[in-house]
Amino acid sequence: MTNAQSGILPEHCRSGLFLELTITDLAKVKQGCASFLTKLEALQQNYPDAKLGAVIAFGDQIWKQLAAPQSAVELKPFVTLGKGNLSAPATQRDMLIHIQSLRVDVSFSAGQMAMAVFGEAVQVLEETHGFRWIEERDLTGFIDGTENPQGAEARAQVALVADGIDQGGSYVLTQRYEHQLDKWQKLSVSKQESVFGRTKVESEELEEVPETSHVGRVDLKENGVGLKLVRQSLPYGKVSGAQGLYFISYCACLHNIEQQLLSMFGELDNKTDRMLGFTQAVSGSYYYAPSLSQLQTLS
Ligand code: HEM
Ligand code: MG
Repeated sequence: MTNAQSGILPEHCRSGLFLELTITDLAKVKQGCASFLTKLEALQQNYPDAKLGAVIAFGDQIWKQLAAPQSAVELKPFVTLGKGNLSAPATQRDMLIHIQSLRVDVSFSAGQMAMAVFGEAVQVLEETHGFRWIEERDLTGFIDGTENPQGAEARAQVALVADGIDQGGSYVLTQRYEHQLDKWQKLSVSKQESVFGRTKVESEELEEVPETSHVGRVDLKENGVGLKLVRQSLPYGKVSGAQGLYFISYCACLHNIEQQLLSMFGELDNKTDRMLGFTQAVSGSYYYAPSLSQLQTLS
């Protein structure tokens, strides 16, 4: 039995719902958490084939009011990184609800359930519906997830706090990116490959990964150890409007996530991720996803 929330570790979901909220009645949100977990379990039992999972997570300002001071010590508000149109804007919210499953209909039902439970105590500021695109590719056409940890054990090791009062908890980053696909599609495939540092069709790492390619920016090592995280991002968009990637990652420490971001946005060595010439971050928040037992004891 794991003590982690059910939406952190699943692999290969087909649909996702990302809700970012302001809390207007914290007491009601606290009470709602147990009820959310009970109703989620009912949906999971009714639709076992959907492999439904969900996560509730809180921003720093809220978690400080809910938890002991020794919990989630790395958590802090997201601050804007980088400069100008190569920046990662901070839009820190109070609360995140992340729902994912193999079935759009079941994900939607879980979202309706979440609004029935929390609706009167929150204001929804961002609602993004993500879908798995062809061959698990990002809308740039590149496979997203090749180097993601695979299998429950490896993913748990990377995503979940291993022990202490936060055992089973996880740090979260969310960022919605809007792609400039017209500009991107004008690049030759080999130029696109040098932007990501991997080949397009097979997603093989280039023999020489450019330092300012996406992989060159985020595949970091400290004392010989790779800084890993579990990514659960999905494409989203309107065919007639904005399209991009809703980035979301989970990690046992905020440090790994933050280092990768600093590296992408030029805050470590003044070099920026070339991918940022073709996509723009339009939101950014850090959250802590409490363990199941932490969530159950809130109410
Ligand atoms: C790898 C796309 C944002 C962290 C990749 C890959 C692609 C990709 C195509 C290569 C295949 C793979 O290993 O999954 C994107 C897009 C983004 C985005 C389209 C936004 C528009 C981010 C952000 C972070 C991040 C914000 C971290 C904060 C990683 C990591 C890897 C990776 C850790 C694996 C690196 C390795 O070990 O080789 N991404 N990414 N990505 N990305 Fe991103
Ligand atoms: Mg690597």
